[in-house]
Amino acid sequence: MDNENQAVTLPRIGDKAPAFKVVTTQGEIDFPKQYEGHWVILFSHPADFTPVCTSEFMTFAHLEPEFEKLNTKLVGLSVDGLYSHIAWLRTIKEKIEYRGMKNIEVKFPLIEDITMEIAKKYGMIQPGESGTKAVRAVFVIDPKGIVRTVIYYPLSMGRNFDEMLRVIQALQTADAFNIATPADWRPGDDVIVPTAGSCGVAKDRMDGKQEGVTCHDWFFCTKKISKDEVMKKILK
Ligand code: BEZ
Repeated sequence: MDNENQAVTLPRIGDKAPAFKVVTTQGEIDFPKQYEGHWVILFSHPADFTPVCTSEFMTFAHLEPEFEKLNTKLVGLSVDGLYSHIAWLRTIKEKIEYRGMKNIEVKFPLIEDITMEIAKKYGMIQPGESGTKAVRAVFVIDPKGIVRTVIYYPLSMGRNFDEMLRVIQALQTADAFNIATPADWRPGDDVIVPTAGSCGVAKDRMDGKQEGVTCHDWFFCTKKISKDEVMKKILK
């Protein structure tokens, strides 16, 4: 079978995150069961001892406290073995200085997946890109174990970490306030209110009769939620 026709399975948005028990650099984990009640970013990287991955791991570890404030745990995966993971993370801590980051200790678990069982379950092996390495996948999983966002990057491109944080903030804000977030939304920007359930409500909104709601048309209404209000709700 050629690359284009090889079936790739992947959990989709709204699916229950596929379960697994596995060895990591922080001991065994039972996923997603032991993360119940937390948000999780499950992410893959192509290989240990490679430069883009090193820059990403340093950044993830550096930002881990920011993710913690958002009740979000990090879990990494590559198809390398445990001893490679341990040696690479030790090298990062002891030797690598990059963009002001140094002495960086990766405290979140890094899964060993030499059989590629989990990588395949999560659609992280994309044969057109590589049949032997995971692409840079990001699965955001909510406290009930449901996949809420999926992002893939190719081997050559390091992830945008502002976006990783923004995704978590946007999902949590949408859940907390029952709103949606527009393009490029950041905490403090206007949010989108759900479409009115009846013509009367839509007309009131259009006529400016719903306090705090601005309508650009009947299907597109926004309101302000301050950054303080957002952060008060979503920060631990
Ligand atoms: C990297 O992390 O630098 C990398 C890994 C695999 C393929 C290409 C780049």
